[in-house]
Amino acid sequence: MPSVVLDLAETERDELSILVADDDEAIRDLLSDTLRRRGFTDVTLARDGLEALDAIKRYKYDMVLLDLRMPGVHGVEVFDNIVSMYGDDVVIIVTTAYASVEQAVDLMKRGVYDYIVKPFRLHDVTGALERAEQRCRHLRALAGSMELVFTMVCLMENKDPYLRNHSARVRDYAVRIARSMGLDSREIRLLEYAALLHDVGKAAIDLRILHKPGPLTPEEWALVKRHPVISRDVISPVKHLSRILPYVYLHHERHDGSGYPEGLAGEEIPLCARVLGLADAYDAMTSERPYRTAMAPEEALRLIEAQSGVLWDPDVVAAMIAVAPKVALMVPA
Ligand SMILES: [Fe+2]
Repeated sequence: MPSVVLDLAETERDELSILVADDDEAIRDLLSDTLRRRGFTDVTLARDGLEALDAIKRYKYDMVLLDLRMPGVHGVEVFDNIVSMYGDDVVIIVTTAYASVEQAVDLMKRGVYDYIVKPFRLHDVTGALERAEQRCRHLRALAGSMELVFTMVCLMENKDPYLRNHSARVRDYAVRIARSMGLDSREIRLLEYAALLHDVGKAAIDLRILHKPGPLTPEEWALVKRHPVISRDVISPVKHLSRILPYVYLHHERHDGSGYPEGLAGEEIPLCARVLGLADAYDAMTSERPYRTAMAPEEALRLIEAQSGVLWDPDVVAAMIAVAPKVALMVPA
């Protein structure tokens, strides 16, 4: 029987796409020559901020070498656009004159990966490129593992019409809330994994129970309440996901201690589990269920606000309300 070999090393060698944005032609040439000599061939050049903005809106580059001072659109505006479109998935190196190093350092706190001071020293450029390439490879590996998780969750959810796309929507809601609360990118990435995987334990529960139109018996309810425990146990052998276990396990805990499986309250529940719980509840409310119809987004948000401080952490509710117009646009079709 022929066997299929998945060559992971092949993925590792995949070409990285790089955008060089600088209004100085000599610098663009120098950087693109350096990149090509290092084996990068997928290099795009932008002559000013406007061209850079146009390029990043059309394509998600792995790496952007960004001049801060460009006529028309400033480098900081280009940076802000990259972050709002792609989060920290793009590795950005800013190039800057010595006079604005402080601004570059400031931008590093907001997600710029590195900076190179002009006039360039070859050593600085190659050092920064080496580090940035490693970071790009790491981000690609992470994205690959997230896609694999996503595919497996879709397979599971497709068996159940009431669960279809639930986890992806919960992920999107949770990420928006977390960003508005200022959680750092690592936490947000963990939250994404947790959101995708929070309900995998439902695969172990009979669909006749999950789809029962009437009230559940105490035995059936006890089984349903085991799903966060099963989700956690299924994921626990995966070492690099160990940090999401509490988020998955505790996504049905409630602010007043009325949730399950532990009955934790307030800050005993990790923040990411509180965010995940609210995102999950919002999606459940606005989705059709065998035992009730879907609520309108506005109605669900009103109910959530009314339960703020009771079932939900008020800070998380406030963050959700702040991003509500974007959240409400994402109701299931
Ligand atoms: Fe759940």
